[in-house]
Amino acid sequence: MNVDNGYVDAPVEAGIDIKKEILRLKQEKNAVILAHFYQRPEIQDIADFIGDSLALAQIAANSNADIIVMCGVQFMGETAKVLCMDKKVIVPDMSAGCSLADSCPADEFEKFVNAHPGHTVISYVNTSAAVKAHTDIVVTSSNARKIVDCLPADEKIIFGPDRNLGNYINMQTGRNMLLWDGACHVHEQFSIEKILKLKEQHPEAKVLVHPECRKQVQMVADKVGSTKALLDYAVNSECKEFIVATESGILHEMVKKCPDKTFIPAPPEDGTCSCNECSYMKLITLEKLYNSLRYELPLVEVDPEIAAKAIKPIKRMLEMSK
Ligand code: 13P
Ligand code: SF4
Repeated sequence: MNVDNGYVDAPVEAGIDIKKEILRLKQEKNAVILAHFYQRPEIQDIADFIGDSLALAQIAANSNADIIVMCGVQFMGETAKVLCMDKKVIVPDMSAGCSLADSCPADEFEKFVNAHPGHTVISYVNTSAAVKAHTDIVVTSSNARKIVDCLPADEKIIFGPDRNLGNYINMQTGRNMLLWDGACHVHEQFSIEKILKLKEQHPEAKVLVHPECRKQVQMVADKVGSTKALLDYAVNSECKEFIVATESGILHEMVKKCPDKTFIPAPPEDGTCSCNECSYMKLITLEKLYNSLRYELPLVEVDPEIAAKAIKPIKRMLEMSK
């Protein structure tokens, strides 16, 4: 057994019912399984809670479990660990990174912040704990608008790392936040031409768009919002058809919640794929989840000094989101 590749590389015993074993281990070890909406369907189905980045942080913060298994990507595991330094936090495949978080290295971000004194620093949750340590308030796509609205109108703000979400908030609030030039490779991939073609074929369909998408895609949206906001919009809408411009994992919960409605994934620009997946999010499988519970590995580790700084803007976000 080794964890060199970021996950426990051990054979799963032949003939076991892996789902049953995951549930047994979870109970035995007082663990809680959290999953993001972009996870594989079978991971979403076995999780105790599924949610967007904000909900997962809130659940982690209030959890009584001894072990938090975060089926998501590294930054989600780090956020949970910073909130629960006394608990074991596991991401079943620690190689699950994030192109958006990677677009903002902590040392460069620190230089950027130092070069612009007098600014309040807002960071999207899709960042490393080291970036959060240079941040005043963390936000997610669920609460970014609300949190920015709480700050005085003349407050000078740095917003990083997602330029598309930053531009969207600037547009919505009339602010002129200074933006870090980062992006998510999945959300930037959506093709406006292909979405417009789908709209021609399905004129009644509502277009649901995540704010990490480019501006031209946001412009054709009936709803721009976080994964949870898009899900809620679909549930509450009278409409029966939706074109969904975010990672296609969310369709699993949309279809579950609205079995009478049709969800069409928006296609990316490249190739012939009809939907757009985050390969990092799809790294977690039932086998990796099972082995992570069995061996209590791989553990998320955050330097205690960094954690002591990163906790402040995360807690501020949780307070301001109440
Ligand atoms: P939300 O679930 O907060 O909308 O975040 C989307 C995302 O990109 C997570 O990686
Ligand atoms: Fe990161 Fe984009 Fe994947 Fe979300 S979808 S984890 S922002 S790379």
